[in-house]
Amino acid sequence: MDLLVVGSGLFGLTIAERAATQLGLKVTIIDRRDHLGGNAYSQVEPETGIEYHRYGAHLFHTSNEVVWDYVNQFTSFTDYVHRVYTTHRGEVFPMPVNLGTINQFFRSAYGPDQARALIAEQAAELGGKEPTNFVEKGISLIGRPLYEAFFMNYTAKQWQTDPAELGPEIISRLPVRFTYDNRYFSDKYEGLPTDGYGPWLERMADHPNIEVVLGTDFFDESQPLHKAATVGQVPVIFTGPIDRYFADQLGALSWRTLDFELEVAATPDFQGTPVMNYSDLDVPYTRIHEFRHFHPERAYTSPKTVIMKEYSRFAGPGDEPYYPVNTAQDREKLLGYRDLTEAEPQVLFGGRLGTYQYLDMHMAIASALSRFDSVVRPWFGAAN
Ligand code: FDA
Repeated sequence: MDLLVVGSGLFGLTIAERAATQLGLKVTIIDRRDHLGGNAYSQVEPETGIEYHRYGAHLFHTSNEVVWDYVNQFTSFTDYVHRVYTTHRGEVFPMPVNLGTINQFFRSAYGPDQARALIAEQAAELGGKEPTNFVEKGISLIGRPLYEAFFMNYTAKQWQTDPAELGPEIISRLPVRFTYDNRYFSDKYEGLPTDGYGPWLERMADHPNIEVVLGTDFFDESQPLHKAATVGQVPVIFTGPIDRYFADQLGALSWRTLDFELEVAATPDFQGTPVMNYSDLDVPYTRIHEFRHFHPERAYTSPKTVIMKEYSRFAGPGDEPYYPVNTAQDREKLLGYRDLTEAEPQVLFGGRLGTYQYLDMHMAIASALSRFDSVVRPWFGAAN
């Protein structure tokens, strides 16, 4: 083995693929889960044959040509365009907040200029006072009526915290469009892998020089590829949690986690759309995904459908870390951990857990491609 990759998410897979194909290296990837692909992984629900995203809905989108060309080596993409709706007080509104949402909400027929003026007037409620919490910040960005309807309680459910207790820094902007465009993403390329995420991710590792070892935790000293046995002996790409690598010696970084409730519902169509948000407190989950709608081009014939309710909360020990909370203390600890990484011999910390950063898939891939060139190639004396 020339290179050990810890974690088979998109960051680890991209580095492994490049190392095998561009440098001819023998790469071993370990993952503590029983499948490769990290959080982007999907599988087929056996009763219905419907592909579902095991760790929450994953929509691929990018404007980065290099990333787009790269991923197209392993999969083609459908022409899926993501759109989201929100249920509020028994009524369904299009998201992100756009002219359609505004006119439905205010029972009006405003044009863009009138709607802009209305929102500016409502957002001026604080009279120029600096927002001191999430509620005031939200009001200052889009005005109280829309903020309270679509963001306040949704955020309370995401954080399991009264929004008045959350800091203003959680949001810098709230998306509002003064057109009827309700495309969720505005990237140049968007779509879902034609044969599904599972086959895409498996193809990335499908190379004679790449060995994937599943069910193997880097910190489990009973297995041969553990930290003490490998660091310093072989170059390592580490995409697990950076705090865990250093045994939490500067304290654990805080994360939000998600709980998913998967259900096979006895109807061919549960909600008529892939994602429905619930912005009120009387519904405990934040959203429901219905996976058959991610692939309208597929001939799913099941008379049943697969739905997944998503709940959100602070992560405790043993929970899957999903979104960095990123408090001031977290940022300070992260700087400390980054200092510690300097002393590690030939260990590259990457990906969302290794850098304590939310990364979309295209960002994880872009980061891996660039760090492959700037760090991994030089390790092996290879020129760019
Ligand atoms: P990732 O978490 O995928 O992989 C890390 C791997 O390391 C895991 O497989 C883990 O098991 C393994 N590991 C950790 N510790 C280990 C240890 N000690 N030993 C061995 N293995 C270990 N992006 C996007 O573009 N569009 C979208 O719609 C979404 N949607 C979305 C929804 C939700 C709920 C989340 C949380 C995230 C998204 N994303 C997304 C982001 C996407 O999931 C993210 O970009 C990739 O997972 C990043 O890949 P990484 O390789 O960095 O991490």
